[in-house]
Amino acid sequence: MVKIRLFRAIANAFGKNKTGFVTLIKTCYQGNFVSFAAMQTPIVQAKGLVKRFGSLEVLKGIDFEAYPAELVAIVGPSGAGKTTLLQILGTLEQADQGSLSLMGAQLNRMSDKALSAFRNKYIGFVFQFHHLLPEFTALENMLIPAFIGGMKKKEAECRAAELLEYLGLSDRAHHKPSELSGGEQQRIAVARALMNKPSLVLADEPSGNLDSANATSLHQLFFDLRKTFGQTFIIVTHNTALAALSDRTVRLADGRVVVQ
Ligand SMILES: Nc1ncnc2c1ncn2[C@@H]1O[C@H](COP(=O)(O)OP(=O)(O)O)[C@@H](O)[C@H]1O
Ligand SMILES: [Mg+2]
Repeated sequence: MVKIRLFRAIANAFGKNKTGFVTLIKTCYQGNFVSFAAMQTPIVQAKGLVKRFGSLEVLKGIDFEAYPAELVAIVGPSGAGKTTLLQILGTLEQADQGSLSLMGAQLNRMSDKALSAFRNKYIGFVFQFHHLLPEFTALENMLIPAFIGGMKKKEAECRAAELLEYLGLSDRAHHKPSELSGGEQQRIAVARALMNKPSLVLADEPSGNLDSANATSLHQLFFDLRKTFGQTFIIVTHNTALAALSDRTVRLADGRVVVQ
């Protein structure tokens, strides 16, 4: 049965496009046998994104797609528009032109309130600096997005305990960010991003502030999470090792996707 589905999916993907086919094979290879119907539907689909700040056109018509359980690296020189693109994909910024759909929902049509709820539920963010609140413990920092999303205290605490255990950080739960190492702070920031079980994780230079050992272990964590939970990761990075390991690298230069 599985073989027939696999065969059919390969045939379909082949007929469609090369990226879909490569994603399919890579995802199967990862052992994540995600439903093929879902796999061929992009979780992120952006078309013709244009963004201007005053007279500066920062994004000049970007098409971008990402599929379930895909790990995409966005690379390019400083000022290319990577952060702006990620913020638009994460609904933190709005494009001046173009369309964006996430998990099949057309975002242009959503009110601000609906958009905030959507973001809280479906998207996790990791930034270069951990942005943990200094007066709260690691655990409390993790609980915040869950409470905002309306999760009950008991359920949120269970979820946090589960994540802390997975990350090997259970013994750091009651420490404040200043009492954690840089690597631990960033892993807690990842845990916070995962609290609401997002389908999509967006990370902006997440290892940019870490030494190489901590950077490698953070990158490994992304791959482990993707394999275990099947989230899609879109990661802006200058780290060539991470980009080389990703399923697909999208290069931006001067507000455009550069054809590889
Ligand atoms: N809020 C803003 N207001 C004005 N200019 C901005 C703003 N955000 C980014 N820019 C400009 O847009 C360009 C792209 O920035 P950014 O997306 O941060 O690039 P990258 O992340 O690739 O370094 C830069 O020239 C930057 O100065
Ligand atoms: Mg940036």
